[in-house]
Amino acid sequence: MTNSDRIRIRDLLPEAPARQAVRVAGWVRTRRAAKGDLAFIELNDGSCFAGVQIVVPPECPAAKTLVPRLYPGSAIEVEGAWVPSAGREQAAELLAERITLLGACDPTAYPLQKQRISFERLRELPHLRPRTNTFGAVARLRDTLAAATHQFFRARGFLHLHTPIITTSDCEGAGALFQVTTLPLDRPPRRPDGAVDYQQDFFGRAASLTVSGQLAAEAYACALGAVYTFGPTFRAEDSNTRRHLAEFWMVEPEMAFADLAADAALAEAYLKHLARAVLDECPDEIAFFTARIEPLLRPRLETLATATFTRLTYTEGMAALARAPGPFTFPVTWGQDLQTEHERYLTEEFVKGPVIVSDYPRGIKPFYMRLNDDGQTVAAMDVLLPGIGEIIGGSQREERLEVLTERLCAAGLDPADYEWYLDLRRFGTVPHAGFGLGFERLVQVCSGLANIRDAMPFPRTPRNALC
Ligand code: 4AD
Ligand code: MG
Repeated sequence: MTNSDRIRIRDLLPEAPARQAVRVAGWVRTRRAAKGDLAFIELNDGSCFAGVQIVVPPECPAAKTLVPRLYPGSAIEVEGAWVPSAGREQAAELLAERITLLGACDPTAYPLQKQRISFERLRELPHLRPRTNTFGAVARLRDTLAAATHQFFRARGFLHLHTPIITTSDCEGAGALFQVTTLPLDRPPRRPDGAVDYQQDFFGRAASLTVSGQLAAEAYACALGAVYTFGPTFRAEDSNTRRHLAEFWMVEPEMAFADLAADAALAEAYLKHLARAVLDECPDEIAFFTARIEPLLRPRLETLATATFTRLTYTEGMAALARAPGPFTFPVTWGQDLQTEHERYLTEEFVKGPVIVSDYPRGIKPFYMRLNDDGQTVAAMDVLLPGIGEIIGGSQREERLEVLTERLCAAGLDPADYEWYLDLRRFGTVPHAGFGLGFERLVQVCSGLANIRDAMPFPRTPRNALC
């Protein structure tokens, strides 16, 4: 078999039923016998949500020998004629002339049988779950969102930048770093004061996996104007929640000559573009998720694609929360960070739609955010969406050398470690801004999946890294 003469099911289904020699290949979903010695096989090849119906007539050579052994999960190739279907479920079906077994599947061992399996159980089978309807649909949705991301930024003149995965700067200053080292863990070299001697480590200094590509993106934005990076990021936070992963993908645009309002406008246009893309390009997947997972999915996506996002300052948000019927688990106090319950109240109850919260207290945000004239708040913005809360975090960056140095010190960081970053302020500094979108949270928003572990092909969370 060559791949060129195999037709993908997504290309076959729209064809008029008048083709003689058609060849498909895929995995058996179901097989049933019907009257007149016919057998029906539902075959799926992953190219689209739907499978193709194969009808096996008794005169097909495989009918007696092979077909009775075609259990769910078996891989086969089928040649036949694409003919009008007598059934009501489909317009056309493949009348099999020849069936070849590519890979048998033992029904006593294969975990994906016809009965529904819980998401929890499927998380233990990350290598097999893409064969289910739900996870096949999630994978296609994710692919559409990635392609739509590149289209969006490319059309606006953003340059796609690859930022490092191993870094020596802690962007968020939060210390949730996965260390990268080749030192022997049981007996690392030590300095006279007892501290580990990283000068003897691979990079000659301590290194870790990146928590964000932002700082490197700033360097390129401050040379090329507008860039974006789309890569894996890593956070060693011990948070076991429905929206945190230890490894997740982030889309981070960065623009020179831009302030916070321009940043918020870009975030809004980007999210609208993504919602439109999945509504237009994944209608079957969205219909499935809306029917099976989240009834509010389609209306939420329509709102996301069309509604104007409400703008609210943090201070206004706190006032709304203080007036809310509550009660909240975490207190509503000016100066404290918004918790998920607060974010969800603001977007789901107060605004009832997408909201951009800006100007957070300086004390709860990283060193790089631009200090506002009030000296108390920074030019930060978070985009909150119903069902998830924070999907995007961004800011205008502090472009003033003295203020930035002061903020680094206040955050307990050593300016000596950020000399290269300070250089961007020494040599032709400009106002600039950017944001980061959590890609798996985006997949959750566009699928209605409650748990982020189901939005990532091979999720990594505390004490869990399968495959
Ligand atoms: O708000 P965060 O931490 O912002 C940054 O990292 C900035 N440096 C981005 C920038 O301005 N270029 O993270 C950005 C987004 C969050 O809004 C959230 O959607 C997602 O990344 N995120 C996570 N997603 C899954 N698991 C986690 N542990 C996440 N932490 C953040
Ligand atoms: Mg954030």
